[in-house]
Amino acid sequence: MSTQSYPPQRIVVGYLKGGTGKTTTAVLIALALAAGGDSVALLDTDQANETATLWAHVAGDEWPATVTVERWRDGSAESAAAAAARLARSHRHLVVDTGPGGRAILADVLTVGRDLICPVLASPAEVMSLRPTLEVAAHAAQAHDVRLHVLLTKIRARSVHRREAREHLEDMGLPVLVSEVALLDRYQDAPGTVPDDVGEYADVLTEVIAREGQA
Ligand SMILES: Nc1ncnc2c1ncn2[C@@H]1O[C@H](COP(=O)(O)OP(=O)(O)OP(=O)(O)O)[C@@H](O)[C@H]1O
Ligand SMILES: [Mg+2]
Repeated sequence: MSTQSYPPQRIVVGYLKGGTGKTTTAVLIALALAAGGDSVALLDTDQANETATLWAHVAGDEWPATVTVERWRDGSAESAAAAAARLARSHRHLVVDTGPGGRAILADVLTVGRDLICPVLASPAEVMSLRPTLEVAAHAAQAHDVRLHVLLTKIRARSVHRREAREHLEDMGLPVLVSEVALLDRYQDAPGTVPDDVGEYADVLTEVIAREGQA
């Protein structure tokens, strides 16, 4: 994996639909950002599950000391945005994982986030489910600059839907990352581990950062 230090990042991973690879994306991007020795905060705001928190917990001693994982619960004295802002101040990078049903939470953390990575599956139904997430992203973008990055994930080898989904998303005027994440056992088996190589997520991160310069 790259050992470079990246410019400070505030990345939110969100899509108001379940099981599209949000947590996998958030954790592997956080680990990629940490590979150069930088401090990273990973804020887990999923209310139904605590997949990111458990991932780090199961990894135990393997988990890098430079990556702080904090879980935020609805009803806390501090808002999710306040927690995100605090962590962004105390760490070089911030990555926020969000749950599938947390519209208000996604809106809240996007007041701090600068990039929204939206992992979607390459299927027609999936693409139609994007609307609520896009509404939240558009609202956030009215207040400050939030770049949206649609990431095609869990792409099956020789999928006929892959190209259709990309074309459809691009026809909708959405910024689809060139990098894609394949449906692979390495990602399926990743929870609870700290892989030496984050695979295609290294390219995803590079592309997200490269887009900053174009904004
Ligand atoms: N590229 C991939 N290839 C194979 N399996 C994957 C891939 N990405 C994620 N998975 C698996 O798919 C499942 C859902 O992934 P993940 O937990 O990252 O999704 P999520 O969007 O965070 O889900 P939720 O909405 O429940 O929070 C997990 O079992 C994960 O290991
Ligand atoms: Mg999740």
